[in-house]
Amino acid sequence: MTTYEDIVVEAARPGVRLVTLNRPKARNALRTRLLAELADALAAFTADDEVRCVVLTGGAEVFAAGADITEMAPHTAVTVLADERPRHWQSIRRFPKPMVAAVNGWALGGGCELAMHADIIIAGDTAKFGQPEINLGIMPGAGGTQRLTRAVGKSMAMKMVLTGEPIDARAALACGLVAEVVPHEIAVERALALAETIAAKPPVAVRMAKEAVLMADELALEQGLAHERRAFCYLFATEDRTEGVSAFMEKRKPQFRGR
Ligand code: CAA
Repeated sequence: MTTYEDIVVEAARPGVRLVTLNRPKARNALRTRLLAELADALAAFTADDEVRCVVLTGGAEVFAAGADITEMAPHTAVTVLADERPRHWQSIRRFPKPMVAAVNGWALGGGCELAMHADIIIAGDTAKFGQPEINLGIMPGAGGTQRLTRAVGKSMAMKMVLTGEPIDARAALACGLVAEVVPHEIAVERALALAETIAAKPPVAVRMAKEAVLMADELALEQGLAHERRAFCYLFATEDRTEGVSAFMEKRKPQFRGR
């Protein structure tokens, strides 16, 4: 497994990779190197059939304090336009396998946006989500205005983006930003358990189901339903569908092989 500087990658459970952001002194600020390493790791996971699900965390104290402000400071409108970061964000958002984020402490700016790139967010009870870019004279630039609005609705998104004020884990649960709130000590464990459950499911069905759910944000309802129907029919051609149905009828545990 590749060793990185700004992230730590571990084979945590069968089929599951744990990625921990590793810049604790800078509150895991997302300098370009970190984003590039994360994009590289996800590309490797995409190509590795053994990897079925990924857990992304910042560890016990903080998820990520957003873009690295010291790195961002010298940018001009012209240099930021040519920045490589959007390329790394694109790789992260196109990761085709499920990703679960375990968020403890601050998830601010690009940190909140990164958490929202995950398919499921598990929040520790210390988690705080915010888009404070307005306080720097800028605005969210890695999907915050789009993903947050889709996740929590216009009014809450506007409140967060225009005031820069964070919300806590309970509020994030109430508005649908996160799937669960758990004691912070067990947030990573809970995310790993969820990832292990997903990793045991038939991988082709998981991949197509993830894609179909994401399509809900892209397509009008009729088109989305047509996309879902096509994917549903396609899965009838997989060995795992035959295995899943046979195992149910034979009252045994299915052995999914990703075929
Ligand atoms: N970039 C660079 N360094 C950061 C950072 C950031 N986003 N956030 C924290 N740090 C650094 C601090 O400068 C400090 O460094 P020194 O020890 O060298 O002084 C160290 O991390 C610890 O920070 P604090 O003392 O502030 O720690 P705290 O626990 O008291 O507060 C915090 C934590 C609430 C996250 C606070 O640091 C903070 O508000 N950070 C900035 C958050 C922010 O504005 N994020 C948005 C960035 S813009 C963006 O994200 C845009 C985008 O992606 C498109």
